[in-house]
Amino acid sequence: MASAVQRIALYPGTFDPVTLGHEAIVKRALPLFDRIVVAIGYNAKKPDSYFSLEQRLDMLQRVFGALPQVEVRHYSGLTTDFCHQVGARFILRGLRSSADFSYERNIAQANNTLAPEIETVFIISSPGLSNINSSIVRDIHRNGGPISAFLPEALHALFK
Ligand code: COA
Repeated sequence: MASAVQRIALYPGTFDPVTLGHEAIVKRALPLFDRIVVAIGYNAKKPDSYFSLEQRLDMLQRVFGALPQVEVRHYSGLTTDFCHQVGARFILRGLRSSADFSYERNIAQANNTLAPEIETVFIISSPGLSNINSSIVRDIHRNGGPISAFLPEALHALFK
């Protein structure tokens, strides 16, 4: 008999800003989960974001707001604690390269030690999207360049 327990995944990140790469990961993960909570967390190595929390939440809302399975949140503290708060048994992350793998393995193993019942699920980025990261987008924007090519369509009007 099918279980009535919802499969909830947390997709955490800094999203400074959300890019085409992040959007693709969420869209590809939709069939795997009943609900995906896309949440802005706090990375102590990135104390000062380029876009404010309000701007980043607004961008996520514009990108994912029309998807009934997706909820946009923010949190402080441990990612595993926030998983417990929202009932997520899965952490969703994207992998673009072997460098991502080394970084993500350490985080996933730390989270596994903290909360063994929470599984990290990785999706390999789609061809053509593995070169995108938020720092490049920030750098282009800081220097007055066009960033739409790296952003979900829902954000193009914001950055005309
Ligand atoms: N497409 C495009 N870019 C991607 C991507 C994808 N599929 N996957 C990752 N990235 C990029 C991001 O844009 C970001 O780029 P940037 O560094 O140039 O800004 C980079 O890869 C990784 O950042 P992000 O995915 O935002 O996550 P993060 O590594 O900053 O981690 C948290 C953020 C909130 C998840 C993490 O710091 C955290 O868990 N904090 C809570 C404290 C905690 O629990 N600590 C214990 C575990 S470490």
